[in-house]
Formats: sequence, C-alpha cells, structure tokens
Amino acid sequence: SPGKAPMSTQNIFLQAPAIAPANRALRRHQRPCVLWFTGLSGSGKTTIAGLVERRLAELGLHTYLLDGDNVRHGLCRDLGFSDADRVENIRRVGEVAHLMADAGLIVLSAFISPFRSDRRLVRQLMEPGEFVEIFIDTPLGECERRDPKGLYKKARAGQIGNFTGLDSPYERPEQPELRLATLEETAEQCAQRVLDYLAARQLLA
Ligand code: PPS
Ligand code: MG
Repeated sequence: SPGKAPMSTQNIFLQAPAIAPANRALRRHQRPCVLWFTGLSGSGKTTIAGLVERRLAELGLHTYLLDGDNVRHGLCRDLGFSDADRVENIRRVGEVAHLMADAGLIVLSAFISPFRSDRRLVRQLMEPGEFVEIFIDTPLGECERRDPKGLYKKARAGQIGNFTGLDSPYERPEQPELRLATLEETAEQCAQRVLDYLAARQLLA
C-alpha cells in the first residue's frame, strides 16, 4: 500500500523559497491557518465547514475547502478505508493543506481523520498556532439516526466494511482548539463559534 513504503529523499535537495511564506500571506492581507474539522461520518463536518467558508468569503478572505468526499475522487482516488489507506489519505491532505497555508490561504478541511497520531503529524507540519483542530462531537447514535447518505444502513447490512464507529476506530481529540456539540447547537451556531474563535485569535484581521 502507498503508506507503507516511503520513498527515499536521498538525492532530493530542499530548495529555499524565493518568497518567504509570511510575505506571501501579507500580500493577501490575511493570516493563513488550517481549520481542521474532524468527526464521525455524518457528524456535520462538511455542513459546518461550508457555512464557515461562506462567512469567511463574505469577509473578503481567500479560502479553500478540502473535503474527504471530493478529494477521494481525485488526489486520493487510489485509496480505500483500511487503516493504512486512511493514514496515507490524511498524510497527503496534510501536505496539501500545508502548501495552501504556505500560499497564504485559510484552509478548511473536512475529513474523518480518525487517528490521533495522523492529526498530530499534520499539526506539526504547520507553523505554531496555525493548526486549529475542531472536533465535531456528534455521538455515533445521532450520526446513525441522521444517516444523510444511507451509509450506516449499508454498513449495518454488511455492504460496507471498515466503517468508522462500527468496525473501524475513531479516536476522539483530547485537546481540540474547539469542540462543537451538534446536539446542543445548530450548524449556524457552531459556525458562529468558529468565527468567534478566529476573531478572538485575530485570524480575521
Ligand atoms: S478518512 O477516515 O479521514 O480517511 O475518511 P475521509 O477521507 O474523510 O472520507 C470519509 C467519507 O467517505 C465516505 N465513506 C466512509 N466513511 C467512513 N468509513 C467508510 N468505510 C466509508 N466508506 C465511504 C463517507 O461519505 C465519508 O464522508 P463524511 O462526510 O465523513 O460522512
Ligand atoms: Mg462530509
């Protein structure tokens, strides 16, 4: 599997950037960051990230939303849902998010990203303070009740294996920057909490 055999970087020489990342971001008059949404399938990642992105766009900020369902049609179309493939999925997306933050963008990402160690690796790629982990804390029972794509039903019927929360693990974030409880607040209220956090951190300036 692609995750198992890292290519050697021997004979590959890192080249210094011609423009420092901080200067690129300044030209856009915004501070780059990565809003990393994590949570079970059907927890509300795509919905809330989409609402946040729209609000950021209204503020004139330049954003990009990376979403698991879309990335898995392109960049990661060769990957499935084994543990190793999920690790590789998040590794690739983390590198892309890093490049986009380097380009000065506010990146939003909506991936289950079930493993703590992978989320930590992505965090470590970013500049200090640039990685904002947002836990969409919707209990499994509620995700299954909502079942927006009918995937839980299929998984329960044995038509999908390795389904997150059923026969594939989800490791809850221990210290996320934000925890959003969708049983207690609407998607709009959750999105507003992200905006409030960014404002408090002066990331909207
Ligand atoms: S991961 O774990 O981060 O690599 O997954 P991700 O790239 O976010 O892809 C999750 C979406 O894929 C669909 N899907 C599954 N999810 C979980 N487990 C299994 N086995 C599975 N098969 C397909 C599902 O639509 C997920 O989308 P969301 O938006 O999370 O519901
Ligand atoms: Mg989604």
